[in-house]
Order: sequence, then structure tokens, then C-alpha cells
Amino acid sequence: MPANLKSTNVTRVEHHINRSERERRNGHCGGVLWFTGLSGAGKSTLAIETEDRLFQEGYQVYVLDGDNLRHGLNSDLGFSPEDRAENIRRVGEVAALLARAGFITISAFISPYQSDRKKARSAAEREGDTRFHEVFIKADLETCENRDPKGLYYKARQGEIPDFTGISAPYEVPVSPELIIDSASNGVDVCVKELVDYVKCHFALP
Ligand code: ADX
Repeated sequence: MPANLKSTNVTRVEHHINRSERERRNGHCGGVLWFTGLSGAGKSTLAIETEDRLFQEGYQVYVLDGDNLRHGLNSDLGFSPEDRAENIRRVGEVAALLARAGFITISAFISPYQSDRKKARSAAEREGDTRFHEVFIKADLETCENRDPKGLYYKARQGEIPDFTGISAPYEVPVSPELIIDSASNGVDVCVKELVDYVKCHFALP
């Protein structure tokens, strides 16, 4: 139980529609594909392209993206370890809810700390057998810094952005991710095909 738990005297309501009814209607299982990796590794690009491909093939799929959620739900959070932990805690809960609603949820967050990713997994697995797949979008710092799509590495090197992942804040490499996508050596099409094939294999109805 969290030390700061404030919501007491609350009681759960049970849904009438169970998980397998939702999944039968969708034709596939719900679950979370949790992308983690450095800024510039390609998380958002691969998430959006994979969402597109899966949607065209009839999947219920939705992307939760770090930059997008930081405009709304998480706009009160910065990049200290505590704020990143809260960012990932909230997103982990939202991803778990969407998964329970039957969606394939693709979350694209740096999520640099192993302990935060573990909590996101626990949130998804809290209520039964929700599938949580950690996907390491693997590109080394040099590659990401050379790409620098938003010019943020340059600013971080100039000292204009504090706590920048890979430069002045840590990134803990996943220990045993379910899938590794090598986005430094492979182009977008190859990576997306790997991801779509993975989903077809792991989210099929039993
Ligand atoms: S996380 O570490 O808390 O998971 P998240 O994925 O939500 O990060 O947001 C990362 C995005 O915020 C990056 O893609 C980048 O555009 C932007 N950003 C701004 N400041 C920083 C920073 N200090 N470190 C990393 N990313 C940053």
C-alpha cells in the first residue's frame, strides 16, 4: 500500500462485461507494449507507424506518447527522478486501464528507471493476466545524438536542458525485455514489421 495513500473508504464496482467478452469482440487480446529507450531512439515514430499498420488490419490499438501526455495529464511534471517516477506511474495505470478495455496499448516513454518500469508492469498485471511486454527500442547514445530530431541533445550539451537522459541523467538498460528492436541498425519498415509480427503472435486469442 503506498505510504501517501489518501483515498480511503472507497469500494470497487464490478463490470458486467468480462475481459474475454471484450477480447472476443475485438478478435484479439488486450495488453501493453511498453516501449523504452533514449530520446531519439525512434520510440514515437515506431509506435505511430505500428499503430497505423495494426489499425488498418482491424486491431483496437492506441499510442500513449511521452511528449503528448506531458501536454495534458502530466503537464505538471518535469524531469527529476521523482517527477519521472510519477509520470510513469500515471501512464502505467492508464495503459493498464486501456489494456483491460481490450486495447493494444503502445506506450512510448523514455522510462529510464528499471523500478518505474517494474511498477508499470505491476499495474498491468494487478488484475489478472493482462499482457505486459517491455520493448527495448535500442539505439546507442551516439546514434541518437547524431539524429537529434528535436535539437535537444545539442541544447543539453550547451547546458540549456538540465537532467537530460543520456547526457546528465541516467538511462537504465532493460535487463530482460520481452523484445529488443534494434533501431540503430534497421530502418523504420524493418522495425515496424518486427513489431507487427510480434503483436500478431502474442496478442492472438487463445
Ligand atoms: S520520461 O523519462 O519521464 O519517461 P518522457 O518519455 O515522458 O520522459 O518525455 C521525454 C521527452 O521529453 C523527450 O522525447 C523530449 O522531447 C522531452 N524532454 C524535455 N526535457 C527532457 C529531459 N531533461 N530529458 C529527457 N527528455 C526531455
